[in-house]
Amino acid sequence: MAQNIYDNDDFFAKYSTFRRQVEGLDGAPEWASLRAMLPDMRGLRVLDLGCGFGWFCRWARDAGAVSAVGIDLSERMLARAAEMTGDDGITYLRGDLETVDLPESTFDVVYSSLAFHYVVAFERLVREIWRSLSPGGGLVCSAEHPLYTAPSRPGWITDEDGRKTWPVDSYLKEGPRTTDWLAPGVVKQHRTLGTYVNTLVGCGFVVEHVEEWGPTEEQVAEIPDMAEEWERPTFVLVGARRR
Ligand SMILES: C[S@@+](CC[C@H](N)C(=O)[O-])C[C@H]1O[C@@H](n2cnc3c(N)ncnc32)[C@H](O)[C@@H]1O
Repeated sequence: MAQNIYDNDDFFAKYSTFRRQVEGLDGAPEWASLRAMLPDMRGLRVLDLGCGFGWFCRWARDAGAVSAVGIDLSERMLARAAEMTGDDGITYLRGDLETVDLPESTFDVVYSSLAFHYVVAFERLVREIWRSLSPGGGLVCSAEHPLYTAPSRPGWITDEDGRKTWPVDSYLKEGPRTTDWLAPGVVKQHRTLGTYVNTLVGCGFVVEHVEEWGPTEEQVAEIPDMAEEWERPTFVLVGARRR
């Protein structure tokens, strides 16, 4: 069983206060980039892996999707998603992305935001996603960028001039990395950018777009503290298609 840190009391309490959870997709600074990779949602069948509070499922339905299914491991995240949703076209299911079996050729769009870096059996999951898409269907996903998941502890280092740097530890050594992010002992799976892309290609996806996301000048003008994210990409965003 995967680590289910989002059901930890302290972790959940802190995570729930994040802007992206309070305001939804518009509170996530990378949303504009993900949105640009998504098709016209009208009439589409959508699956969201690691759906959290269900913000994307609700957005997809508002944008015209005929159905949206959200899967998550955390009972607390799913309970909050259910509280926030009043729509028979949305189904939330408890499932572990390490072992989930997805129905064949059922979805037109699979979306996943910031869940893949928790998954050990990534190749297995990508095969499941490929099978679950109808031919020509699209995958739009994000994960913490590999430079973000491979820091020397404790992460940021501030030199005597006050400049913050993010030294990377053994970038090419893939596997679990333990951090104290929101709670002690949070395990994230570090894999290289090449592994992310090559796994998708190896499972039959055509990779259409890869973005090493960092904030725009406008976002930094609005929230100056975000400038530190220019030190390295925060997220990797990928758009891919089932041939
Ligand atoms: C950073 S949150 C992102 C939530 C949502 N996608 C969003 O962008 O707001 C990561 C989510 O992935 C879920 N998750 C982590 N590991 C998982 C697993 N093995 N199976 C299913 N869900 C998982 C967590 O419970 C959490 O809801």
